[in-house]
Amino acid sequence: MKQAGDFKRTLVTTALPYANGPVHIGHLAGVYVPADIYVRYLRLKKEDVLLIGGSDEHGVPITLKAKNEGITPQDVVDKFHGIIKDSFEKFGISFDVYSRTTSKTHYETASEFFKTLYDKGEFIEKESEQYYDEEAKQFLADRYITGTCPHCKSEGAYGDQCESCGTSLNATDLIDPRSVVSGSKPVIKTTKHWYLPLDKHEPFLKEWILDGHKEWKSNVYGQCKSWIDLGLQPRAVSRDLDWGVPVPVEGADGKVLYVWFDAPIGYISATKELTPEWEKYWKSEDSRMLHFIGKDNIVFHCIVFPSMLKAEGSYILPENVPANEFLNLEGDKISTSRNWAVWLHEYLLDFKDKQDVLRYTLTANAPETKDNDFTWKDFQARNNNELVAILGNFVNRAIVLTHKYYDGAVPAQGELTDYDKETLNEIPVLVKKVEDALDNFKFREAVKEAINLARLGNKYLADTEPWKLIKTDAERVKTIMNIALQITANVSILIEPFLPFTAKKMQSMLNLEGLTWADCGKLNFLAEGHMVNKPELLFEKIEDETIQGQLDKLEQTKIDNEAANKTAAPAKENIEFDDFVKMDIRVGTILEAEKVAKTKKLLQLKVDTGIDQRTVVSGIAEFFKPEDIIGKQVSILVNLAPRKIRGIESQGMILMAEDASGQLEFVAPAKAVKEGSEVR
Ligand code: MF3
Ligand code: ZN
Repeated sequence: MKQAGDFKRTLVTTALPYANGPVHIGHLAGVYVPADIYVRYLRLKKEDVLLIGGSDEHGVPITLKAKNEGITPQDVVDKFHGIIKDSFEKFGISFDVYSRTTSKTHYETASEFFKTLYDKGEFIEKESEQYYDEEAKQFLADRYITGTCPHCKSEGAYGDQCESCGTSLNATDLIDPRSVVSGSKPVIKTTKHWYLPLDKHEPFLKEWILDGHKEWKSNVYGQCKSWIDLGLQPRAVSRDLDWGVPVPVEGADGKVLYVWFDAPIGYISATKELTPEWEKYWKSEDSRMLHFIGKDNIVFHCIVFPSMLKAEGSYILPENVPANEFLNLEGDKISTSRNWAVWLHEYLLDFKDKQDVLRYTLTANAPETKDNDFTWKDFQARNNNELVAILGNFVNRAIVLTHKYYDGAVPAQGELTDYDKETLNEIPVLVKKVEDALDNFKFREAVKEAINLARLGNKYLADTEPWKLIKTDAERVKTIMNIALQITANVSILIEPFLPFTAKKMQSMLNLEGLTWADCGKLNFLAEGHMVNKPELLFEKIEDETIQGQLDKLEQTKIDNEAANKTAAPAKENIEFDDFVKMDIRVGTILEAEKVAKTKKLLQLKVDTGIDQRTVVSGIAEFFKPEDIIGKQVSILVNLAPRKIRGIESQGMILMAEDASGQLEFVAPAKAVKEGSEVR
C-alpha cells in the first residue's frame, strides 16, 4: 500500500450537492468542513492540492420542482447554484473551483466519457418495461408516478417510495397509478437502456477494496463489503427524461445520462475548467485522489464510479473515501422537504461573523463514526465554554497584557524555569497529535488537540499569574508574556484549518503573515521589540434568548408541518341569511388582560366594545401573553348570552381563526377602526 508521502499531489473532491434547494448544516458537517480542513492543512504544509466542488444540476427531483413551480429546470438550478456557492464561500470552504454540471465543459466531458465506454463495448443494452404517459408522450421516472400505497393504503405514494409508511416500492406495485405530469393513467411500454455491468467488475472490486483498502474507515469498508457480498448487478446509466446530458449515440432520442453517471464526471469537468494541467491530477500514478462524501453516496464513489474509471482505463482511482455518517437536528432527521434543517444562508443572517463558531461545533461534533445530533444547546455550550472561555480568553489576555505592560512591544525572553520548559515541551507533542489525527481523517480529535494548545496557554497564564507578579518581579513577567505570545502564534497556525477566520484575526493581531505548518513548534516567531496590534474580539458569549429564538423557529416548523399535513374541515350545513344577521359582531380593543388563576388556557380580558367595557373569558392563554395583547383590536360577538366560566361572568366571545393543528390567531380589522364598528 502506498503512503501519503509517496504522492506528489492530492486531488480532493467533495460530493456535488443537488441544486434543488439550499445547503444546510448536514452538508457542511458531513462533507465540506472536513474536506476544507484537510485541504487547508495540506496547503499549510505547502503540498500540491486541489479542492474540487460544484453543483449537481440534473436528476428527476429538479424537474419535478420546476414543474411544481411553473419554471424551467434551468431556472431552478440557476437559483440554487447561486445560493449554494455563496454559502460555501461565506463559510470559508476554500474551493479551487466550484463548477456545475450544466456547464458546457461538463456536457462535453460526460458525453465523451460515455462514448469511450460505449466504443470499448463496456456497456450492455437491455430492454425493460416502464410506465409511459400517453398524453404527455413521455416515459415516467418513478418519482413521476403516484398512486395508493399497497402496504399502508395511503394515497400520494410515489413510484419509488411511500412517504407515509416509508416502504420503498416499485412503480408497478402502486394501486391506481397516475402520472404526475398529466394526471392520466400511465401505460406500460418497452424502452431500451445502457447498463454498466458491475458484475463484470466484481473480481477487480474485491481485490482493490476488500484486499487493497482495509485501511478505509470501517463504515465505508463495511458498506462496500456488504454490497459486494450481495453480488453486483448491471446498473442502468441512461434514463428516459428530457433534462440531462443527451446519450451521445444513434437511436437514443429522448434519453439522457442517468444523473449518477454524469455527476461524478463533474469532478473531472471542474478540474478541466480550473487548469489545463488537469490530467496531471487525474491520470498520473503519483497523484492521490480523495472523495469526501456522506454515507448515502458510498456505493457510487466506491463501486460505481471506480468501475467507470477502470473501464475507461486512463484514470486513477480514489486512494480513500472518508465518508461521514449523518447529522441529525435536535433529535430528528434533517429533511429539505419538511424544512427540518439549519440553512446556511439563514445562519449567516442570524449569526453574523460567526462562521467559525458553526465550523467548530460541527467539527467537534462531527458524525465521523456514527450519526450524531446537532443541538442548539450544545452549540451555545461549545461557544461559551470552549471558544470564549478557552481560546478567546487566552489570546485576549496575551495581547491585552502585552499592550498594558509594554505598549505592544514583545518583551525579551529571559531565563526559563522548569515549568516554562515543561509547558513549551508540550507544544510539539500537541502538534504531533493534531497531525496524526488529520492524517487519519479524525477531525474531531484533531480540533480537540488544537484547542488543547490554547488550553495549555490559558493554564500557563493562570498558573504564573503575571498580573500579580508585575508588581513584585517585572523581569520574570517579560519571560512569561514572551512565552504566552509564542504559544499564541502556534495556536494561530494549529487552528487555521478549522477556524480560518479566527486564525486570520489572530495573525493580524500578532502582526505576523504567511505562517506555515513547518513553523509549528517554533518559539521565535516574535522577536524582542516586534509590535503586536490592538486586540480584536474573537468570540462573544451567546445568550439564552438567541438560542431560544432558534428553538422557537424549529418549533414553528413542526407546527407548520402538522398543519400542512391536515386538511381543512368540511363546510357546515347551509344557514339562512336571517340566521347570520342575528349575530352582533363588533370591533373592540383589549384594555386589560390577565391569566385566570389555576387554568392553562384561559385569559380574562376587559374589552372596549364601543358600546361598553366588558369582561370576556377567552381560551387563548397558550398562544398569547397578556402583556402582548393589551391595546389589540379584536372582533367580538357581543350578543352571546353571558355565561359563567370558572366563576367569572364572560360577556361575549372573541373571534379567533384556528388552523388544522389548533394554532390560534385573532380575527381583526387590517387597519385600526373605531370601536363598535360592526362586522358583517
Ligand atoms: N448530488 C448527490 C447528493 O447530493 C451527490 C453527487 S456526488 C457526485 O447525494 F459524485 F456524483 F458528484
Ligand atoms: Zn405506505
